[in-house]
Amino acid sequence: MAAKKQGKKIYHLNIGQPDLPTPQAYYDAIRSYDARTLEYEASPGMPVLIDAVRKYYKELDVDLSQDDVFITTGGSEALLFTCLSIMDPYTEVIIPEPYYPNYTTFVHAAGGVIRALPTNPWEGYRYAKRERIESLITKNTRAIMITNPGNPTGVVLDQQEMRMIADIAKKHDLFLICDEVYREFCYDDKFGVPTMARFDDIADNLVIVDSVSKRFSACGARVGCVITKNKDLQAALLKFCQSRLAVATIDQLGAAALYDVDHKFFRDCKAEYQRRRDTVVSCLRKIPGVVVEEPMGAFYVMASLPVDDSDRFQRWLLEEFDDNGDTVMFAPGAPFYETPGKGVNEVRIAYVLSQENLERAMEILARGIARYQREVLVKE
Ligand SMILES: Cc1ncc(COP(=O)(O)O)c(C=O)c1O
Repeated sequence: MAAKKQGKKIYHLNIGQPDLPTPQAYYDAIRSYDARTLEYEASPGMPVLIDAVRKYYKELDVDLSQDDVFITTGGSEALLFTCLSIMDPYTEVIIPEPYYPNYTTFVHAAGGVIRALPTNPWEGYRYAKRERIESLITKNTRAIMITNPGNPTGVVLDQQEMRMIADIAKKHDLFLICDEVYREFCYDDKFGVPTMARFDDIADNLVIVDSVSKRFSACGARVGCVITKNKDLQAALLKFCQSRLAVATIDQLGAAALYDVDHKFFRDCKAEYQRRRDTVVSCLRKIPGVVVEEPMGAFYVMASLPVDDSDRFQRWLLEEFDDNGDTVMFAPGAPFYETPGKGVNEVRIAYVLSQENLERAMEILARGIARYQREVLVKE
């Protein structure tokens, strides 16, 4: 990359990967593995891990049987198998935009079509509006898919909003796919540890996508799961699980050990991310022309910048700009949207750097915006 060749130091705000240490329990579990033959395990997952997941959900007041849980290679495979199981060509799924860009790949791989539920920065990207959601439902709609807490927006639904979306799914007989991989990262106590899985009355509609990646700071473990009580969907998911035989044995054992970590781990991680969020938001608010609402969850901030095009601005930051040899990278906003032309001046900032590095990164961003406005925008 040109910026690296020029010897610039790049502060990466573009990657959605936690930087906090993975609990030691993971490494201990995989080091102690000593089976003579590394065999395939059961296609839906190893019982020891399924039981660990069930115990975790029990603490959230959710009762799951063994059959309700399918262990997958990350939340990614959970999403892919879900889409492949429930969609036919041209069936539609309603997704609030901006959304995690890989959803496009999963939905399209299944032949589905995304119907984007529009939001905007000045409403803090909140999407739980009954009329807006219902107006997108057609005879081809198969599912509503949400990320709660949201990536890239950090939006967290409150209880009433969750209930309202659950009611819509029930009334229109739609699947409700809830990607809850950021569940532990909610920065207001009123949210607790939110999950749609508590709504028993929509058990047949509900699909929960989950993962150890963010919860345990363990993206490389590649372990997630999909949870549903819908028997037809279980049968379809089982076929996909069988087709790829099994998830990696040692990864599953490591993940099972993670579920035993003390709750203090979650409290500490959350407190750290919350401090960082506060830093990023207060720095962004000081930059004239930036539109940003305080995100309530996950570890991302979506903001609208006073630039013409955040992708062009990003390239300029890398190729033409530095502040004492330093520059920043964020994720430009447009790829998080289905609707062409939306998100062009928006960015997603992942606060997965240390407090000190974040402060420096935000200082560089502020200086970069000011210089870009003076040297590029004014001259055009
Ligand atoms: C919203 C969301 N869902 C799912 C995933 C998939 O993560 P993994 O496959 O590591 O579980 C990610 C990863 O960033 C994500 O942000």
